Amino acid sequence: MLESLKQAYLPDMNFPVRSIDKETCSRCGRCFETCPCGGFSWTKGEVPVPIGFGGFKEACINCGNCMAVCPTHAISMNGSLAIREGRYKTFLDRKMQPPNPFGQETPDYASFEKDLTDMERAIFTRRSNRLFKDKPVDKDLIHRILEAGRFAPSAGNGQPYRFIVITNQEVIHEMEDRSMVVLKLLKNAYLSTNGKKKLWKNVFFSAASFMMANKFDPRPMTAMEKADRNKGRMYFSAPCVILILKHTRGISNPDLDAGICTQNMVLAAHALGLGTCIVSLNMVPLSYPIMAGFRKKIGIKPPFQAVTSIAVGHPKGKIDGIVARDTPPVTWID
Ligand SMILES: Cc1cc2nc3c(=O)[nH]c(=O)nc-3n(C[C@H](O)[C@H](O)[C@H](O)COP(=O)(O)O)c2cc1C
Repeated sequence: MLESLKQAYLPDMNFPVRSIDKETCSRCGRCFETCPCGGFSWTKGEVPVPIGFGGFKEACINCGNCMAVCPTHAISMNGSLAIREGRYKTFLDRKMQPPNPFGQETPDYASFEKDLTDMERAIFTRRSNRLFKDKPVDKDLIHRILEAGRFAPSAGNGQPYRFIVITNQEVIHEMEDRSMVVLKLLKNAYLSTNGKKKLWKNVFFSAASFMMANKFDPRPMTAMEKADRNKGRMYFSAPCVILILKHTRGISNPDLDAGICTQNMVLAAHALGLGTCIVSLNMVPLSYPIMAGFRKKIGIKPPFQAVTSIAVGHPKGKIDGIVARDTPPVTWID
């Protein structure tokens, strides 16, 4: 337990190593823009540079989206993110692998894509989209996305959700700005400067993460830093945001129902050629008393509570694509 506490705040991590081929890089900066962690620095016209900050040797959660959006395939990644010890310990023996539904020795997506169902293709190629065109999404399309959510399975068919669709940019920005006040405080306190861990931070965040591991995981702190650098734009200037609310007295586990519903919407949007990114960064601040006025303004009231949200828009350039993923252990009981 003592070891776990000591390792709770910014635990030792293995980082994937990202490299950019200077010869083929088009210097477009799409990797810099799309990275959810602010893991690149970039000057216009130059080759982006993978970076770390605040205690992260490389600010990278291994999503592979930089590779998926790169028009010249100039980026490569080696290894996976793994936390060595403590509260957030991950597996160290995982192998990163692209989709391999047919169990090939060396999976090659192009060779089996034709054998996939449309659903599998949608699942494997969907990526979180953080680059949007400045173009509204037709209400008809938003309606189709909501319909996909409405037909999600739920415990006891309780359907414990409500949706709020926001296309008014001022309201989206107000939500971002108000949430950012809290997130900025949290990530500034959490991230270390000059790689040095302050004693009070160690004690406070170790205790906090021991009690609420999922609220103090180091990884989202990088997304908060990215949003902060991006003037708080955690919805990436998407033209539409869908909030998914749960009925807090829903049967069994309404958060799970809301998550399944969200994924239905995301896949439907992807199949319609739209880009989406699930955004939960602001869900904690949104539940705080300081955002009571905003909640009232947009119509969130008990017993409903926001679970997550989706940024929706038309993707700017090619976003979706195949990435590698960890291979979680599977136990077969025949
Ligand atoms: C519940 C949930 C919350 C998420 N919150 C955020 C978020 O606040 N900001 C963000 O940029 N991405 C967010 N994401 C997207 C993840 O970063 C992304 O799914 C992950 O890195 C894998 O990348 P992929 O979706 O492109 O496969 C969230 C995803 C989920 C499922």
